[in-house]
This record gives sequence, C-alpha cells and structure tokens, in this order.
Amino acid sequence: MSNRYKEDFPILRQEPGRKPLIYLDNAATTQKPETVIRAMEDYYREYNANPYRGLYEISVKATDRYEEARSVTAGFINAKEPAEIIFTRNTTESLNLIAYSYGRSGLEEGDEILIPISEHHSNLLPWQQLAREKKAVLKYIYLDEKGSLREEELEEKITNKTRIVALAYVSNVLGTIYPVKNIIDKAHSAGAVVVLDCAQSIPHFPLDVQELDTDFAVFSGHKMLGPMGIGVLYGKKELLLRMPPFLTGGEMIDYVAEQEATFAPLPQKFEAGTPNVEGAVGLLEAINYIRQVGYAQIGAVEDALTAYALDRLKQVPYLTVYGEDSRTKNRCGVISFNLEGVHPHDTASLLDADGICIRAGHHCAQPLMKYLGLAATCRVSLYFYNTKEDIDALIASLMKVRRWLGLGN
Ligand SMILES: Cc1ncc(COP(=O)(O)O)c(C=O)c1O
Repeated sequence: MSNRYKEDFPILRQEPGRKPLIYLDNAATTQKPETVIRAMEDYYREYNANPYRGLYEISVKATDRYEEARSVTAGFINAKEPAEIIFTRNTTESLNLIAYSYGRSGLEEGDEILIPISEHHSNLLPWQQLAREKKAVLKYIYLDEKGSLREEELEEKITNKTRIVALAYVSNVLGTIYPVKNIIDKAHSAGAVVVLDCAQSIPHFPLDVQELDTDFAVFSGHKMLGPMGIGVLYGKKELLLRMPPFLTGGEMIDYVAEQEATFAPLPQKFEAGTPNVEGAVGLLEAINYIRQVGYAQIGAVEDALTAYALDRLKQVPYLTVYGEDSRTKNRCGVISFNLEGVHPHDTASLLDADGICIRAGHHCAQPLMKYLGLAATCRVSLYFYNTKEDIDALIASLMKVRRWLGLGN
C-alpha cells in the first residue's frame, strides 16, 4: 500500500540519490507538507513585519494573517470566539501559563490537583511546582496493566477538594485514548476545572471544546504538521478574563504609568512581546491541510496501519508491546515495546542504520515508566503518511537486532 500523501512532504519524497527516510517518530514531531513550508517562506519573502504596530501595508498584512490563524484555530476546535485562543510557544508553555496564572490565583492550601500517572512531564512538573508553592496536594490516578483508566479509581480520586484535573487525551507512551468526556463531567460535578492536553490527539482526531465542555485545552503546532515554536492555549473566556497575565512587557498592555499598568483585553493580555507570525501562518496552513485530507481519512489510514503494525510486531521474537497490544477504539498508533535483552537505545541506533527513525527512552514520562517497572522503551508512532512498507521495513530491521548483537534470533 503506497501512500499518496507522502508526495506532499518534501522530506519523505523518494529523491534519486537520497536514502529513503522511514519516519516513525511522529509523536515527537510530524513532518511538514509543502504548503506549510511555502506559506512560511512566503511570509518572509512578501510581508515580514512586526504586526499590530506598523501602519504600513505589510505590517497590516502580517497582523491580518496572524489574526486569521487565530480565527481558523478557533473554528477548528469549535471555540466560541477567537479571543479564547492564546498563541504560545508549545504545549509546555500553554500548561505552564495555566498553572502559573490560573493555579496561583485560584488554589489554596489543601486543595487537590489530580493527574493520571501517565502524564508527560510537561503536564506534571507545572502542577508539582504549583502544589509545592500553594501547599496543595498533587494526586495521581493509577492505570490498569493495559494503561486504561479504571472507573473506581476515578470515583475514589475525584473529591470535593479537587480543584484541577489535568490529563492528556492520548498517552504519548501507550497510545491510550482516555475517556475524557466522562472525566470532564465528573470533575465538573466536583467543582474542578479540567485542563486537557491534546498534543497527541489533535494530529489524529477532532477536538470540539464546546462538546467536551473542557475548561482549557492545549496543543503544539509541530505535532500536527505545523512548525515548531507555535502552540495553542484554549481557555473558556470567563476563566481567561479572571486570570492575571503570565508574561508581561510589550503588546500585552493597555496603559503603563511609572508604578502601575492596565492590561490589554483578551487574547493580547497573554501574548507579551513580538508574536510568532511565521509560526501562526504555518499553523494555519497545517490546519488547512488536515481539513483537506479530513480527519475521517486520517483516522481510517491510521487505524489500518496501527492494526497492521501491532499484528506484525507479534511476529518478532522476544518482543513485548506495552499497553493494549491489539488495535481497539481506545488506542491509536503510538506503540511502545522492547526487545528482550536489548537496550532500547541500541535498538533505535541499529534501526537508524536502516534509515528508520524511532524514539527510545523514557518519553518524558518517568513516573509512568517507574509505575510500569520499566527503565525505557522503544516507541514507534504512526501518522497518515506512513505506509505498510514503512512497517515492513521496521519489522525486517527489528528481526535483525538481536542477531546483530549476538543474542541469536
Ligand atoms: C502528551 C504530551 N504533552 C505535552 C508534550 C510537550 O509538547 P511540546 O514539547 O511541544 O511542548 C508532548 C510532547 O511529546 C506530549 O506528547
């Protein structure tokens, strides 16, 4: 099964004289289609200027495109209005902003913050810091052996002291898709707000913030075909209005006197300094590209690839997959595994010799690794431009690893 989408990605195109690239590290970052690259190049070639401040044509165009990116992003996730979209550098910065601004003004001693044990460090450390500062309690939701959330665990852990529930829609280690609507409803019944980390979900399936009724949602442009350096924070307007600024300085003010200042309205209140216009333009094109392919098609291609990859991995001797090892509706194409007797870094390095890019390590989720009794894993993460041939190449290479290391088959 070749894949017509590969042609849209210059780095993946088969060029004469170039080693084919088999890119299976999409959870770390995705590759960029020609349209995204060209849109950013056009920005620098045709209308690079500092937005908002300039009274000349190219500055107005830069402002218009930046605000168009905000409106399109708002529509893409069904936010009520563009002012609910704050551009940041990435998911990490969005989460820090929420913890700093909402958390420091909204939490008191003894309040509880609840997160699953599987969270990426970016959705853990800001809460750990906040809990320490406010003498709040950081509590964990533990998972079952397949990486799923247990209903009883949720019932027990969400209490009337819970103020914040922060969780990923999709685990960046196990590929588990969490039942977030159920969790959001339970959190709201207890009076808590929900922070939804969509870094690993929005590349693969739609996000509707109103339908979910999530209070905050965050994601990174670079994991959804856009450039690095642009991230999104969605927040319900009534919450954003109450929150103090995160960073202060230019662009985010209304009036400044020697000893005091008033701040700009949303969303500028949270966007201090010169914004990343290039990044916003790239994100806009990435959204256009995803819309053009369609989430239905992305999902269909990825589901088939995930099922195929999980089946084929079962054929590799001495290989263990962690989490759900068959394709189910609660699982997407992020697959962690190990080869018995082989350090994951060795596996990844040996695969690299065959032009295959995978990730090895703790995947910024050390508490999860400890909970699973693992030091590190190999991780393959698929996207719709991958093919069965990519997976066949992975399997052929994995079959050789133990032999290469003198461990037999
Ligand atoms: C679930 C999840 N959250 C947060 C992040 C952090 O994203 P970024 O490095 O773009 O801030 C990642 C990155 O892998 C992730 O997978």
